[in-house]
Amino acid sequence: MHNITLINGDGIGPEISNAVVEIIKSAGVEINWDVQSAGAKVASEEGDPLPKRVIESIKKNKVALKAPVTTPIGKGFRSVNVRLRKELDLYANVRPCKNIKGIKTPFNNVDLVVVRENTEDVYAGVEEKIDDDTMHSIKIITRKASLRIVEYAFNYAKKMGRKTVWAVSKANICKLTDGLFLECAREVAKKYPEIEYKEILVDALCMQLVQNPSKFDVLVMPNLYGDIVSDLTAGLIGGLGVAQGANIGLECAVFEPVHGSAPDIEGKNLANPTALLICAIQMLNHINEKEKAAKIEKALFKTIEEGKVLTQDLGGSATTTEFRDEIIKNL
Ligand code: NAI
Repeated sequence: MHNITLINGDGIGPEISNAVVEIIKSAGVEINWDVQSAGAKVASEEGDPLPKRVIESIKKNKVALKAPVTTPIGKGFRSVNVRLRKELDLYANVRPCKNIKGIKTPFNNVDLVVVRENTEDVYAGVEEKIDDDTMHSIKIITRKASLRIVEYAFNYAKKMGRKTVWAVSKANICKLTDGLFLECAREVAKKYPEIEYKEILVDALCMQLVQNPSKFDVLVMPNLYGDIVSDLTAGLIGGLGVAQGANIGLECAVFEPVHGSAPDIEGKNLANPTALLICAIQMLNHINEKEKAAKIEKALFKTIEEGKVLTQDLGGSATTTEFRDEIIKNL
């Protein structure tokens, strides 16, 4: 029996969470879900969108599945996602991108993973105003953060049976910062002779990703490049509806889809649970339920490929619960 925190989120969060919980249960994985609400609704009820109880639950269970939460733009509370990453030191953002048969994209052989450093770079928020016409933003790259993210990427490659790790940088221009990142990547690569190590500049990577994405495997990079490249790779496999992510630290891991809380379709039983389900599959791999993870993935892909019961965003007319039941039928 696994103990896992479930943050069921705002908007469509509860609907897609319920669907995913049912599918996992039907696949025979025994999970004791510690359901913790967080987000805009909780903020109005408890005065904090991310109450202490949520962080404590994740610290205790070590693993969380998180549905999207609503963040008001330009006012109100700080992003729950940013706070979670900070408070739990979730230093690695991991986004696997693999084609799903039945979802039309220009390519059909994409199978890569973006490993993005999650704590520093220009996202450290060190900015200053020099005068009205000049602003500074400081890019921070440290040996400690670079070593641990590259180590994570190689470890991941080894665990998941992947062959190559590419270190992505702009070290020809940012000679000190990205230079340090590359130096760390080379040092870690020596410890993993069984994994091939390659380097590529981020601009060349972007071009090659849209021409021939199948040549890439695990890509590890600093925060800003990772943010941009992982959206590009999500686009390669069909975009928001299927894009998954995980934020991983030394102690805890939080798995969450890339899309938001979709308030426009809240409560209408129209939401597509695919992205959250793919996150849950990644989570099951993380907790070593690999066989069940593969079984659920197969059922999901079969449902999409058959195309008989699909939610509206995938071109069908099924409700969330009909789509859920079809996946369960295909398990
Ligand atoms: P959104 O991703 O919620 O919605 C964009 C469009 O995609 C909408 O038309 C929506 O109906 C559709 N959509 C999204 N997910 C869907 C799904 N699973 N099934 C079917 N259709 C889906 O982005 P938006 O509208 O910019 O943000 C809404 C709220 O979500 C905001 O408060 C935002 O801050 C928050 N948000 C939260 C995230 C998180 O918690 N990880 C990530 C992104 C946004």
